Amino acid sequence: MSTRTPYRVLFVCLGNICRSPAAEIIFNAVAAQKSLSHLVKADSCGTASYHTGSKPDHRMLAALERAGYSYGGHRARTFRRADFSEFDLIIPQDEYNEQDILSLARHDEDRSRVRGMWQWFAPEETERSVPDPYYGGPAGFDAVVALLTRSMERLVAELSAKLQA
Ligand code: 4NP
Repeated sequence: MSTRTPYRVLFVCLGNICRSPAAEIIFNAVAAQKSLSHLVKADSCGTASYHTGSKPDHRMLAALERAGYSYGGHRARTFRRADFSEFDLIIPQDEYNEQDILSLARHDEDRSRVRGMWQWFAPEETERSVPDPYYGGPAGFDAVVALLTRSMERLVAELSAKLQA
């Protein structure tokens, strides 16, 4: 695993309007709490292009606000092959996102940068991926924010140990 700084992390979901912008916002907040903002840089994107240029879904922004997070102005964009070179760690939110990203990988070096968000889930989590809240109600958005918050503590702790070793 690379340890260059700033260490660049890319969160990926399908539309880049719900899960991955939430992951980016929560990652930045947790990194700031731990005074690591100067060592890491996060972005997010989607595997599909239909929401390109859009703000995050208002239901996700409301769930983030309820949990105390603030939106920094992200606009949706689509994953591109160049992201394999521009990011040190690429984090799909579910196994479909993972398959779509891996189908664009050119070699093992690209594949080695891809690690599903579930790799930082605590053993007691019942989810096996970050569930897509798009077609459900507000509770699904709150559940995604809570799951990402718990998992992000574990991801940021891992990066903190590596980057400050
Ligand atoms: P996301 O959620 O991948 O977490 O941004 C979705 C956003 C849009 C759609 C599905 C999921 N959609 O079908 O438009």
